[in-house]
Amino acid sequence: MKNVLVTGGAGFIGSNFIHHLLRAERDVSVVNLDALTYAGNPDNLQDVADDPRYSFAQGNICDAEFVEGLLRERQVDTIVHFAAETHVDRSILGPRQFIETNVIGTFTLLEAARKFWLQEKTLPLESVRFHHVSTDEVFGSLAPGEPAWTEETPYAPNSPYAASKASSDHLVRAYGHTYKLPYTITNCSNNYGPYQFPEKLIPVIILNAMEGKPLPVYGDGQQIRDWLHVEDHCEAIHLVLKRGAPGSTYNIGGENQPANLTIVETICDILDEIHPESPHKPHRNLIQFVTDRPGHDRRYDMDTHKISTELGWRPRHSLTQGLLDTVQWYLSHPEWVTAIRQKHEYQGWMEANYKSR
Ligand SMILES: NC(=O)c1ccc[n+]([C@@H]2O[C@H](COP(=O)([O-])OP(=O)(O)OC[C@H]3O[C@@H](n4cnc5c(N)ncnc54)[C@H](O)[C@@H]3O)[C@@H](O)[C@H]2O)c1
Repeated sequence: MKNVLVTGGAGFIGSNFIHHLLRAERDVSVVNLDALTYAGNPDNLQDVADDPRYSFAQGNICDAEFVEGLLRERQVDTIVHFAAETHVDRSILGPRQFIETNVIGTFTLLEAARKFWLQEKTLPLESVRFHHVSTDEVFGSLAPGEPAWTEETPYAPNSPYAASKASSDHLVRAYGHTYKLPYTITNCSNNYGPYQFPEKLIPVIILNAMEGKPLPVYGDGQQIRDWLHVEDHCEAIHLVLKRGAPGSTYNIGGENQPANLTIVETICDILDEIHPESPHKPHRNLIQFVTDRPGHDRRYDMDTHKISTELGWRPRHSLTQGLLDTVQWYLSHPEWVTAIRQKHEYQGWMEANYKSR
């Protein structure tokens, strides 16, 4: 792992991963390929912008010529592929972009890697790796009492987002099987932590609660998710890159299954405690149940036995501490939040999503 191409590195998990990698590896060069869509934010990487090991290349993963040029120019031996359209609600309002980026974009990257690594053969095959970052949503939804998903569970994606990610996972696997492209895939649960775009559940709740605005909870709030701190996720990906067997997939999860309502209530309680003088206390009074997401998956649960026994990975963050740290991060980064929330696109989307609920 010398010359690493991170796609989508200006987004939430990608930027955390770049921070992690530059901290953990001394002799590494990282190029961040990102189109800077609404979710991409160069501010996430301000503190590494002057690091000579880091560089930024603005471009689209669907642009074959650009991607191929970058692989050759930087002699990329490792691709860590985060770039995607990621918001389920956006995929329901407008699915096309999800097919473009998540399916065609992943296909374009795979083709570029196949040409550069397998046809031109400039680098030793054992030194290259295509790592694809995927989601637990490809597995569908669990009924009460059903066992957690393993790496062997058949895919049953329910939303356009999940279906587009499932398609991309299948393409990666097929390139491994057909062309012997060395790949790994990780399917992780819901991430939370610093730099998460403030239209996803946890930042929306933190920011609205601080301002005394309603806290929208979809349906009855009893949807169950597994919450993974983004730093635990980055450590797991790094470990898979170093020690994961090519051709393998690994589940990554936070080892917890709270209902969404519990997450919202916990954030309210944290704010009550750290802001005892808040005029909006008790923050739980701000909770407002709104119309559920169409086809909303009920329960996710990840079996992480494989990554813990094969690679020795376990999440380091407890949900309680992780949520407290995350609330404090958002409270201490008001400029970061304001810069995003001032954007027209952000305001327009929030209105479109919540207006009719
Ligand atoms: N956030 C989660 O909870 C979660 C959970 C499971 C899996 N994942 C997966 O992890 C990856 C990263 O998720 P995230 O939450 O950081 O996403 P994000 O939405 O915060 O960031 C996505 C990044 O990709 C970039 N991008 C989008 N389209 C692009 C294109 N065509 N070309 C180049 N760059 C493009 C955006 O500009 C942005 O920087 C995704 O593949 C997602 O499916 C996320």
